[in-house]
Amino acid sequence: MKVNIVDDAKFDTAVADFIAEEVRCNPSANICFPTGDTPKKIYRELSLRVQSGQLSMASVHAFGLDEWGSLPETSKARCSARMYEQLYRNVDIPSEHIYCMDTLVPDVDDMCKKYEKRIADLGGLNLAIVGVGINGHIGFNEPGSQKTDRTRKVTLSATTQRVAKKYQLDVIPTWGVTLGIQTLFATEKILIIVNGQHKADMMTKLINGLETTNVPVTLLRNHPNCTLILDSSAASLLTGWQA
Ligand code: PGA
Repeated sequence: MKVNIVDDAKFDTAVADFIAEEVRCNPSANICFPTGDTPKKIYRELSLRVQSGQLSMASVHAFGLDEWGSLPETSKARCSARMYEQLYRNVDIPSEHIYCMDTLVPDVDDMCKKYEKRIADLGGLNLAIVGVGINGHIGFNEPGSQKTDRTRKVTLSATTQRVAKKYQLDVIPTWGVTLGIQTLFATEKILIIVNGQHKADMMTKLINGLETTNVPVTLLRNHPNCTLILDSSAASLLTGWQA
């Protein structure tokens, strides 16, 4: 895993640069995008670049990383709704190139299988961008997730349900769907993005700890083309590393 620590103020630009470079090198890249607080300003930066003509995402295929279960279609907290709000509606990715996991269908397991097939039919993911939860989860691959896990329905951990309160949901979902660790590992390139002091403890586990299913992000670090971009705050408990 390549580790790139950047000043807090440069984090969003550094990640946007990485994604923009990927799109320039492979304009028709299949990219998995996460939601959460981490990518919000990164998406604003990418949106500005597309709107100012510096970047085109017109041939990109975009896949959502995960989705809450049982939120109504009108909920603005759905991952798909936030992706539209923060990125898709602001850039030139054609709507037919945008794929979201639909947890309102009667057969969620079948939806997950079809989502995997869609990725495979397009030749696989070229880049998976993932954030990390304070419990080390990736998407909704919670502690206990296995390297062999594919896209599937999962029970959300108590930590994830507690953190979800920040989205002001009427009801906190107890389940979700997520691309699996194996699905992510099969991607050509993985970009892990982490910012903030509240993730510093988790970063010591990712960089110095053992590979363990208790900390799912550690299962990605031996991927042959994995880059971690983190800001100085998230790196503050690491010794021997600096921006
Ligand atoms: P955050 O979420 O970006 O809101 O911190 C990351 C995650 O839980 O995967």
